[in-house]
Amino acid sequence: MKVAIGSDHRGLRQREVIAKGVALVGHDSLDCGTFSTESVDYPDVAADVARRVASGAVDRAVLLCGTGIGVSIAANKIPGIRAAVCWDRDSTRLSREHNDANVLCLSGERFSDEEYFDLIKIWLETPFQGGRHAARVAKITALENG
Ligand code: RB5
Repeated sequence: MKVAIGSDHRGLRQREVIAKGVALVGHDSLDCGTFSTESVDYPDVAADVARRVASGAVDRAVLLCGTGIGVSIAANKIPGIRAAVCWDRDSTRLSREHNDANVLCLSGERFSDEEYFDLIKIWLETPFQGGRHAARVAKITALENG
């Protein structure tokens, strides 16, 4: 898989850790910035990264901001995106099994490098369960049309 990675200024260094984690489980990453410590608006990077997923240019994405919340709200405005803010192993696993999340949103400030590696591995390796969850995800997709 190709995984885009983006952050605002509060996930700058952590993006390198995420990229290493993606490589450790055998996938490619694409660094989408931000590339300086200057304060930027998280909706800009979230929209850019989410559009890459929605267009199929990349398979999935990881977004970081201070909390992970802002980037998730912004990314979810892009049709086709199911962005999930995850905070531990269970939420990360369930975002794949139940929600087929295609964007993982994490705090850039709350995890150790080892915890990022762990969460990335879980998220990239956990399949969607389908079945009753597929019908529910289809209902989410239908909401994009009003
Ligand atoms: C930026 O200061 C901060 O608001 C942002 O990183 C994020 O936490 C928003 O949800």
